[in-house]
Amino acid sequence: MVEPRLITIDAPADAPDPAGELAAGLREQPARVAPKYLYDALGSRLFEAITELPEYYPTRTERAIFDAHGAAMAAAVGPVRTLVDLGAGSCRKAARLFPVLRPSSYVAVDISVDYLRDALADLQRQFPAIQMLGVGIDFSRRLMLPDAVGDGARLLFYPGSSIGNFTPDEALVFLRQCHTAVAGGSLLVGVDLIKPRAVLELAYDDPLGVTAAFNLNLLRRLNALLGCDARLEDFDHVALFNERESRIEMHLQARRGLQLRWRGGQRHLAEGERVHTENSYKYSLEGFAALLRESGFARTAWWTDAQRWFAVFHAAA
Ligand code: AVI
Repeated sequence: MVEPRLITIDAPADAPDPAGELAAGLREQPARVAPKYLYDALGSRLFEAITELPEYYPTRTERAIFDAHGAAMAAAVGPVRTLVDLGAGSCRKAARLFPVLRPSSYVAVDISVDYLRDALADLQRQFPAIQMLGVGIDFSRRLMLPDAVGDGARLLFYPGSSIGNFTPDEALVFLRQCHTAVAGGSLLVGVDLIKPRAVLELAYDDPLGVTAAFNLNLLRRLNALLGCDARLEDFDHVALFNERESRIEMHLQARRGLQLRWRGGQRHLAEGERVHTENSYKYSLEGFAALLRESGFARTAWWTDAQRWFAVFHAAA
């Protein structure tokens, strides 16, 4: 039986060490923690649970768009040799597209190959004719695909509206890197659209408290990685739509005045003071199409749902 190949690319020498990065963020005004720390093993499972919530519309809306328009997307994309799945995780989203896109090789990219190992082995059994490769790399800082991906045009697949977790300036840098990485091919990207505040805020503050747990888990990460003494019961999860910036913001808000202490530092938080933990930008169709053009993509098309809550863009180099 064919086994998928797995490779890990070490973090570049200039990558920040987690403790230094976390301490620097806590010292900022307002304090912040980078959202990548949301995704340890428990955080990743909590995020998977979020995607099952009725209030969290992005996952199911995007799935419905792929189901309804998969054939049209495949026609726009044309023949695919290499499908590169950025942030592949369970590889489920890309696998649903295999029958329409029919790639000859599939490259699953995630921050750790450990997340990919089982999913890729399963997929390889189901699709023995597709050559599979798993790459463990933090592509959010710099998208540099290893030589093992092979030459020739690629289809980059970046679903789930993860592009919204970059600021628009960072998204522009990332999309320019995508434009280079497609090597004359194209990009399929899922984008969350602007919609009424009530819908957005409920999606990021669900009544079951799963998103709250996902956010509060960051305090456990701070304690583990920085030797911090944060107590989960001292913080509330806050999610609000910042209309001016067109983004959902997640914060951890201190329930009382407190001192956060860690190895080599401390930070006072007054009652009600917040630690900013994530932004999730929401775009208009025109705004995102303009960003793609500015990134160097020449031809763009998009598909959306009846409510225009979510869009999948195809951008050709
Ligand atoms: C991963 N990312 C696209 C999610 C989002 O909607 O921004 C992360 C998330 N944060 C809270 N709920 C989901």
